[in-house]
Amino acid sequence: MQGNFTYHNPTKLVFGKDALDGLAAELAQYGPRVQLAYGGGSIKKTGLYDRVIAILREAGKEVFEDAGVMPNPTVEKLREGAAIARDNDVDLILAVGGGSVVDYAKAVGVSAHCEEDPWEKYYLRMEEPECRIVPVGCILTMAGTGSEMNGGAVITNHDSKLKIGHVFANPEVFPRFAILNPELTYTVPKYQMIAGIFDIMSHLMEQYFSGVDDSTSDYLMEGLMRSLVQASRAAVANPTDYEARSNIMWTATWALNTLVAKGKATDWEVHMIGQAIGAYTDATHGMTLSAVSPAYYRHIMPHGLEKFARFARTVWEVSVEGRTPEELAAAGIDALEAWMREIGCVMSVAELGVTDDMLEGIADATFIMEGGYKVLAREDVLSILRASK
Ligand code: NZQ
Repeated sequence: MQGNFTYHNPTKLVFGKDALDGLAAELAQYGPRVQLAYGGGSIKKTGLYDRVIAILREAGKEVFEDAGVMPNPTVEKLREGAAIARDNDVDLILAVGGGSVVDYAKAVGVSAHCEEDPWEKYYLRMEEPECRIVPVGCILTMAGTGSEMNGGAVITNHDSKLKIGHVFANPEVFPRFAILNPELTYTVPKYQMIAGIFDIMSHLMEQYFSGVDDSTSDYLMEGLMRSLVQASRAAVANPTDYEARSNIMWTATWALNTLVAKGKATDWEVHMIGQAIGAYTDATHGMTLSAVSPAYYRHIMPHGLEKFARFARTVWEVSVEGRTPEELAAAGIDALEAWMREIGCVMSVAELGVTDDMLEGIADATFIMEGGYKVLAREDVLSILRASK
């Protein structure tokens, strides 16, 4: 391990079939005014909304509704939510939903008492909050983003065609608690479940394909990837397989709760391309990553050959017999691609609504990261997008 680091994760997790039973004890830590943030209505259909409202009422909370958080939450919705929090001086924001709702709640939490416009301050200038931060708790209904145990909050600005993630360093931005019941994910539509699964794989690969030293973090990620591949196959075959859904949920949390990045460089270029595609198309996040990943990894593979060969061996159990390092590395990406097709990932940007006239704009909207095996130029981004059509 080469890097110096401090590791501190303040989120308390309550996991399992009975996790919701832990909500009342968490609510007791906060004042009476609770902003209830949720999405487009899935929690009403599943009955979760009624269960949560009953627990809130039992706990004597006054509830301020904040419905309609859309997938890929927008800056307009963020401003609306910040006004609800500020005007009602809420003590806690309770996010009930997937990564979009949890990200949104964190962004609202840092914006409610901030004098400046949140888009300018947190997303264009990437500043940390100086104002009072409203605490966030969450009940997660979909696995993928890791938002339940990290400081990330991704917001989309359709006017400027930018989708930007701010990974807040301040531990007060992380959810204070996260209720994780894998059974709540049974009703996630198959397309969203697969997008979430690929989001997890992408988080792991973004952190794995970097660095040249022997790092415990890489071994942890290999284990998480193997578990994910196994669980994804079982969940696709049977969405109510508790073992599979619980492993997927747990893997998602560990893939992006900041642990496996410790002591090493990380890449994140696939997420930058995916976010730019999202800004142009509003496509489902995990599928924006899947559509470009095979082309991206084939593009950078010659610059990190040893790690790609190790990926083939350890994650996909590709035999080294009779293969050159180049052939082994390539076979690993072939195995990744075969698994993606098998579970039903989107494999082309065209399927997400990307048209030829968007490619230049998407390349312009792609932030360039410097931690991976190759620092891309704009032309590289364009050629990856063209190879992903
Ligand atoms: O809005 P509702 O009605 O709840 O429906 C949602 C939404 O339509 C539905 N859904 C969620 N749980 C469900 C369910 N439907 C039925 N039953 C359930 N139990 O699924 C749809 C997608 O939900 P969403 O929250 O958008 O998905 P996800 O968890 O993938 O979150 C995506 C957002 O997170 C950001 C993405 O960019 C995107 O904006 N990310 C956040 C990260 C972080 N904080 O670290 C990292 C990620 O890579 C990602 O960038």
